[in-house]
Amino acid sequence: MTEAARPEARPQRPLLDAITRITDLFTYPLRTSHYVELVNPLWTTHQLQARVMEVWDETRDARTITLKPGLNWRGHRAGQHVRVGIPVDGRHYTRTYTISSPPERADGCFTITVKVVEGGRISRHIVRNLKPGDYLPIGLPQGSFHLPDAQPVKPLFVTAGSGITPARSMLRSLIAQERLPDTVHIHYAPHEFDTIFGRELRELAERHPRYHFHPVYTRELGEQQRGRQYFSRDQLDRLCPDWRTRECYACGPQGLLATVEGVWNDAGLGRHLHVERFRAAFAEVPADAVGGAVKFAKSAVSAQAAAGTSLLRVAEDAGLNPPHGCRMGICHACDTTLLAGCVRDLRTGEVRNEAGSIVQPCICAAAGDCELDL
Ligand code: FES
Repeated sequence: MTEAARPEARPQRPLLDAITRITDLFTYPLRTSHYVELVNPLWTTHQLQARVMEVWDETRDARTITLKPGLNWRGHRAGQHVRVGIPVDGRHYTRTYTISSPPERADGCFTITVKVVEGGRISRHIVRNLKPGDYLPIGLPQGSFHLPDAQPVKPLFVTAGSGITPARSMLRSLIAQERLPDTVHIHYAPHEFDTIFGRELRELAERHPRYHFHPVYTRELGEQQRGRQYFSRDQLDRLCPDWRTRECYACGPQGLLATVEGVWNDAGLGRHLHVERFRAAFAEVPADAVGGAVKFAKSAVSAQAAAGTSLLRVAEDAGLNPPHGCRMGICHACDTTLLAGCVRDLRTGEVRNEAGSIVQPCICAAAGDCELDL
């Protein structure tokens, strides 16, 4: 399995950095970059931004956003993700999206493809309200869910819903490099009409005989037979008989990934499986677990928290806007200090109560009353 945080290294520009250091002396306490931002937000150096160039509806609830990144952007590897800042109703949120375009784009832009999540205010805002000309703060590309540089492998993609985005980026990249190996792609979507990139990938399969696309429409068989359409070992054997000889890249909802992991682990092939998650895999909250009163010390705000609700969500629901990035325990952008009390790691169930220790509010919940340095 892969998923590792990678530090965001800013590209080096020695001459520009030297000039900026000098001009910063004259603009103190601000920085030159703050004035440059008034002319063109893409030229700033204190914060990386991107301009929305185009929006494109893929399906009725999924949209591809084309972004032109600022000067400090460095190219991504196909399959990586990026943090995007979204201002909504005067508050600033951060979400992480896979880059859906290949790095080989000639115009220096990249795309993210966002599907509306049920009850998701931010994804809804992106899909419904974002428009060309908007500027968004972004991070640098991150993540180890990508194809190896050297030796092309025989990939098997197993994706569902918007989990198709990294696979699309990888495919497009392999095609652009003219090194597409024998590739099998099993993709799950409710219907043909709401398959993100569905038509594009079917056309790719017609043009590239090495690309074998198997869309599976989980809601088109009717209620009784629907279960037969979900991922299973039998279905895998049928659609990709040589799956044991392939390197598998899986991205989709937790249920799909858990089943895929089970099949690969049972076969003793876990090292050939690479998984990208939408969110952290949380363990079941023990029946006797209790939440508690959470005090956010710096903000002088308190809130009641349930045992299964992340402290990041508790803070946001209380009207705070703490720093965060991936929301699944990878990037450490949300790290804060536990000042008192007890928290539970929702992934492992481990309980921590040492005052002064660093905790990640996105994957920790209150285990009784607690106080955080937020
Ligand atoms: S937001 Fe990334 S680790 Fe918490």
